[in-house]
Amino acid sequence: TQVYVLYGGKSVEHEISKRTAVAIINALDKEKYDVYSIYISSEGIWGTTGMVKEELKELQEGKSDSAMTPTLSLAKVLQECFSQREECVVIPALHGTHGEDGTIQGLLELMDVPYVGNGILSSAIGIDKAMTKEIFSKVGIPQAEYVFFTLHEWQRHTNRVYDQIERKIGYPCFVKPAKLGSSVGIHRCQNQDELKEAVKDSFTFDQKIVVDKEVIGREMQIAVIGNEDPKCSVAGEYILEKSFMDYNAKYVDGKLIPIIPANIPDSLHQKMQEISQQAFQVLNGSGLMRVDFFVTEENELYVNEVNTFPGFTGHSMFPALWEATNGITYSEIIEKFIDLAIE
Ligand code: DAL
Ligand code: MG
Repeated sequence: TQVYVLYGGKSVEHEISKRTAVAIINALDKEKYDVYSIYISSEGIWGTTGMVKEELKELQEGKSDSAMTPTLSLAKVLQECFSQREECVVIPALHGTHGEDGTIQGLLELMDVPYVGNGILSSAIGIDKAMTKEIFSKVGIPQAEYVFFTLHEWQRHTNRVYDQIERKIGYPCFVKPAKLGSSVGIHRCQNQDELKEAVKDSFTFDQKIVVDKEVIGREMQIAVIGNEDPKCSVAGEYILEKSFMDYNAKYVDGKLIPIIPANIPDSLHQKMQEISQQAFQVLNGSGLMRVDFFVTEENELYVNEVNTFPGFTGHSMFPALWEATNGITYSEIIEKFIDLAIE
């Protein structure tokens, strides 16, 4: 079987994708699979780096020809890799826009190539925090109070937007671009001045923003694996020093300490697993999903968001959760994903 790992991508999470992809590529059994990597630059230019035989330290961008356009480069890569393809599977090791959002999944569907993880619908909904919340609220998945607005609404009715946020959500609140990951563009606001700044900034990242009421609680995560009959890991918790998980705390400073399994009563654990499974199913999930929670002191649960292709480095929560759940190793999880993709 040939395995093509896509990495990079036109996304603010480009660098994280590279780290995820290195770990995945290194974990793949090269005796069993022919492993190829395909990079997508931050500008959306595609390129191949050929077959990977050795352990990688990091992934390069590859050289991209300045005359290349995204369309041409894509056509070239598809021709090179998939025109006379043997049995193959794609791992879109991409986070965020143009990768975790249904776009790549649509391309792979058109080509009739099996791929790891969520399909078009679950990816497209999962990337959009507003849509995810709307669907979760339909089925009663517990969440913090929220509102969302488009750029157009804000431009036309600026004061009405602030007014609604203050009436429905109040302070402190979190302002987020609807479709970005890794906490990019997220602001915690304590008054109207901060709110105005935050809204303005979040709209530089996206045409839609979501505003959440602050939940004071611990941040916990559950990793779901499967297709029709998804299974949930134990819950893990991050202990952190900052007031919320920002980009730096998450990936650079190493200030987060994972506690697995999280120290919570069994009944709460079970409840989180039930909710995670429900979240996966209502979003039409396949392969994998990470469901992120807040847990208050009174043990109330709130789903914060889902990630349809969560961070997957050697230090990421997802593989660690499964290792703690049933001893499955990182490499075995990736093989499981491949099996789920072609089953
Ligand atoms: N969006 C990042 C990669 C995560 O949540 O793991
Ligand atoms: Mg995320």
